[in-house]
Amino acid sequence: MIYYLEEKDKFIWFHHTWKHEKLTNVYDKISLFSSTKMNIDFAQKHNLSLDPNYAVAPHHTGIYPINPLVYDIWHRIINFNVTSTENYPYHYMSPSNRRGFIYKGLFVLPRQSCSLYTTTRNYTNYPNGSHRLEQHLMGGKLFRIILTNPISIFMSHNVNYGHDRLGNYVFSKLIYLISKWTRIKFSSDLSTSELARKYFYDYYPDEKMPIFTNPCHDEMLMNLWNGNRSMCRIFPQFLIVGPQKTGTTALYSMLSQHPDLHPSKKNFITYEELQFFSNDTIYLNGINWYLDQFDSDNIVSEWSMNFEKSATYFDSILAMKRIKALLPNIRLIMILTEPGARAYSRYQHEIARTNQTINFDDLLQLNHNHSSNQFHLKERCLQPGHYAEYLRQWLNYFPSKQIYIIDGDAFRYDPRTILNDIQIRFLQLKNPINSSKLVKFNRKKGFFCPISNKNHFQCLGNSKGRRYEKMSSYSREYLNNYYLLHNQKLIQFLRNNNYSLPLWLTFFNRTQLIKRCFSLSNIYHAAEGRMGYPNERYEPTTISALDKENKTLPLITGLYEDGFMIAEQDRIVGAIFSFPRQIICWNVYSPDQITPESLALLEVILPRPEIFILGIGSRTNKIPPETIQFIRSLKIGFEILPTTQACETFNFLLSDNRLVYAGFFPQNDLTDQNYGLRKAIAHSQLYEKDEEYIRKDLLKDTYEVMIKAHRERKLLSSYSPLDRRQSSIKQDDDTNVQSLTGTSNVEKRLSVKKRDQQETDNQS
Ligand code: A3P
Repeated sequence: MIYYLEEKDKFIWFHHTWKHEKLTNVYDKISLFSSTKMNIDFAQKHNLSLDPNYAVAPHHTGIYPINPLVYDIWHRIINFNVTSTENYPYHYMSPSNRRGFIYKGLFVLPRQSCSLYTTTRNYTNYPNGSHRLEQHLMGGKLFRIILTNPISIFMSHNVNYGHDRLGNYVFSKLIYLISKWTRIKFSSDLSTSELARKYFYDYYPDEKMPIFTNPCHDEMLMNLWNGNRSMCRIFPQFLIVGPQKTGTTALYSMLSQHPDLHPSKKNFITYEELQFFSNDTIYLNGINWYLDQFDSDNIVSEWSMNFEKSATYFDSILAMKRIKALLPNIRLIMILTEPGARAYSRYQHEIARTNQTINFDDLLQLNHNHSSNQFHLKERCLQPGHYAEYLRQWLNYFPSKQIYIIDGDAFRYDPRTILNDIQIRFLQLKNPINSSKLVKFNRKKGFFCPISNKNHFQCLGNSKGRRYEKMSSYSREYLNNYYLLHNQKLIQFLRNNNYSLPLWLTFFNRTQLIKRCFSLSNIYHAAEGRMGYPNERYEPTTISALDKENKTLPLITGLYEDGFMIAEQDRIVGAIFSFPRQIICWNVYSPDQITPESLALLEVILPRPEIFILGIGSRTNKIPPETIQFIRSLKIGFEILPTTQACETFNFLLSDNRLVYAGFFPQNDLTDQNYGLRKAIAHSQLYEKDEEYIRKDLLKDTYEVMIKAHRERKLLSSYSPLDRRQSSIKQDDDTNVQSLTGTSNVEKRLSVKKRDQQETDNQS
């Protein structure tokens, strides 16, 4: 010690603790304060030149992983500004990966390490020869550390320094070589506080906020953490991340009924949500605070899981980053409801809890120039509904297998299937519980409610499932337009990542969506999983069915038991409605749902079709008699046929530039191999292993032969849909029944006409 005091003018002294105690588990503010203070007093007593800002933590402890108490005492009480660590975000071997952060006002700079262990070594017996040491200094590891880091901090404890045989040599030679061979200039006139400012404000301005990593994933951090290995189990296993107003609370309460699933404790600042990852102030409480929000007693078996829901995570890029850093293997659940309805629900929520009075129509018309509060409210209502944008970001951080996407509308009307699927497929619970035991429909509430183990309803409070008046048609239209492109991107995103589409994206009762889809895309893609969902009604409107830009004919080029292939490129599941240039989904899920209501579009569509073709699925299917009457009443030509024949007729008329519209229900008995259309066109899909048919050019030829044959048939008798319109009105009432016997009415009539023609020819 006397030696150091004698040499004191050659050093700048840094703050430390007097007793060199580990700061990992320090809970006692007074002892930390007094230990640090004794060090300061010693320096002052001996007139040591002291850096007033820089403090060094003993044994690398307390700085990262963070012990908030150390920051509190050192910065708030004693006023130190800068420290450093080797361990953030992890203890990377490569010093360039080490980063800095600012916590509670204390600047934490990344510290380098030379890892040469020079203390115990002589120059002559340096392992593998002294030239190895020289290599480190000239162009080697140490040389590069200084070249690649704008600020380098190396540290040696005073005791080590005194005994270090090679320390002085290493650094004086290193500095000499760098000064000689590079243009780096060493400066000695910057204080540590100025260095830290340079680091955070000039070089790395994005690094200010710490991003907590998981000590359970790094042995070094584990040793320095004021936690222990058993606490690793307390971290949640899955998160419900939102977005807000999509049913997240309902899902959270329902899953909480499962005895192995344990929600976070109630939080009195943010109500039922923790919002740890999305709220800066809460986040800065640190990971031990986060763990405290879960009851450690819950983790009784290896199947027990903690979880939390914070709907604010969904649209926060920061939250995504932070979750990834702390919980890289976490499973994530998101709920997507129709974004317009979500926006309106959010608006109702804000109106109910604040003193805002603006009505929704007016809110939607606001732009940047209006009062920032109200405009901000509009943004908060609309922004989270940009689903595709945020989902894409989530996928930048997590693989899709870790993300479960729920159709919010399906969840609201019947959460049971979804709850079963989450338990079994997504969370793979050891003891899944039949969801009918977790939730039941409550008539009074109008929603499914969680059921307690005493079989009592535990419906959500009044703020969930509010009753409010229907959105105006102005707002509906505005939101349809606003979200149209977002929804289209969402369809693409979900398809590309093998997610099924939510019902609300596949239903086409949102007329604006259809109208715009017509003009924007050739074919409106339908969803997997549409079959078997409840019916929806069309809204009366006028729709134009011709997209003049689109030159592609939407021919039906494949039949499946659950859907269709369009123009050899688009696979559509479920019933479809076809127009001369577009195909859209048709919300019928069984032939008896082919009602006048489901065909209401025919009343309003422009231009009126020359002929309407209805494919009712298999030949034994029945449709309601009133549907036939309804079609008749439209005064258009029509054919009602099994779907194979209906498709053939449709393709034929379409290729002939007829103004034909059609509704097709999938045919579930595609075993009749004699049928021409399937044989020619759809075999590739039905018998995918049959190489003869999957060769596309062969198929194409066959298809062209067929079209040609049809054309020839047509030449034999001049066919006009208008004639047919007349004849279908005049003809017998059992058009439907006749069609179902197997021969297309078109063919039948063509042969009648051909016979008539021959008779006329003979007479002449
Ligand atoms: P409304 O109150 O506008 O109807 P969150 O919990 O994410 O904030 O979502 C609230 C919304 O969840 C409610 O919006 C409600 O429509 C929907 N929801 C879905 N299932 C529900 C359920 N079983 N009970 C209550 N609300 C439910």
